[in-house]
Amino acid sequence: MGRHLYVDADTRQTCLEKPLIECHALYHQICQQIFASQHGPPRPPDSRLTVRGFDVLSGAVNRSEAAALSCMVSNQIDEKDRVLTVVPVSGALEARLLAAMESTLDRGLSALLEAYYASHFRVVHCQLYRTEVDGERHYSFRWHRDVEPMAQIHVMIYFTPSGPDDGGTQFLDFAETARLAANGYAFGAFEDRVLSLDGVLPKGDSPPEPERPLVDAGDAVIFAAPRILHRGVAPKHGHRDVLVLNIMPSLVPWRATLEEFGTDHLFSVDGGTRNTLMTDPFDPLMAYFAGNPGPVDMPPWAMFGGMLPA
Ligand SMILES: [Fe+2]
Repeated sequence: MGRHLYVDADTRQTCLEKPLIECHALYHQICQQIFASQHGPPRPPDSRLTVRGFDVLSGAVNRSEAAALSCMVSNQIDEKDRVLTVVPVSGALEARLLAAMESTLDRGLSALLEAYYASHFRVVHCQLYRTEVDGERHYSFRWHRDVEPMAQIHVMIYFTPSGPDDGGTQFLDFAETARLAANGYAFGAFEDRVLSLDGVLPKGDSPPEPERPLVDAGDAVIFAAPRILHRGVAPKHGHRDVLVLNIMPSLVPWRATLEEFGTDHLFSVDGGTRNTLMTDPFDPLMAYFAGNPGPVDMPPWAMFGGMLPA
């Protein structure tokens, strides 16, 4: 018998009949109930991740290991002119990346995420990205929120330093994101994404003030990608190497999922395009829904950045 928990068929069916955003939120609430039954009621949230939507974890990976991983990425890529490359991962590189993921989780990420979710969580899939100088041509480098289940967290483990002239990510916190949403800028189409938000607010309103964490190689940046506006910043020289972990709530601890199901799913071939909203949260590995799950409709609580319905 496996260690994963399975929700009874009736409850699962009731959730699966809801629109996608609500279905994933209901699943998260079930995860919270299980967690509370094991750990007691959640403590008041106090991390920057919970209060503002983004956070930094220093020393997630040793700096020397981060540098070694960046060298391995260089050896893996032939074409030097791609603006944003999802690097193929296998063999020795995959083993080292899994060790980097585990190091990050054990050095504080796990506790931070459990407090944020008030539940267990799992790593659904990972992407290894190299960003070159021309990165701003890519849609990720314009202001956006990712169309994902509202609980999804992105963890970017940096293998290259992110100083003022290096690649990085700019964020607006929950309050600023809600202000932009009230002015109609939230989950727009790719082609409507803008590089500067100055023109979105009415004249006379204070301009949004993005924050951009400066980090060292080996540090991790954690953010609620569907809940806060963000944009990638391309490096002015060289390149940026990051491992992105995509995190979702879970009925059981992350390690239990990997022990039972292995790690093959983490670097699947569709890692760069995987759409978690179209996956079944009740499946331990979040496989895609068998049927067409219908259109994505953002309810107001999600539009204004909530993690769960108020
Ligand atoms: Fe994004």
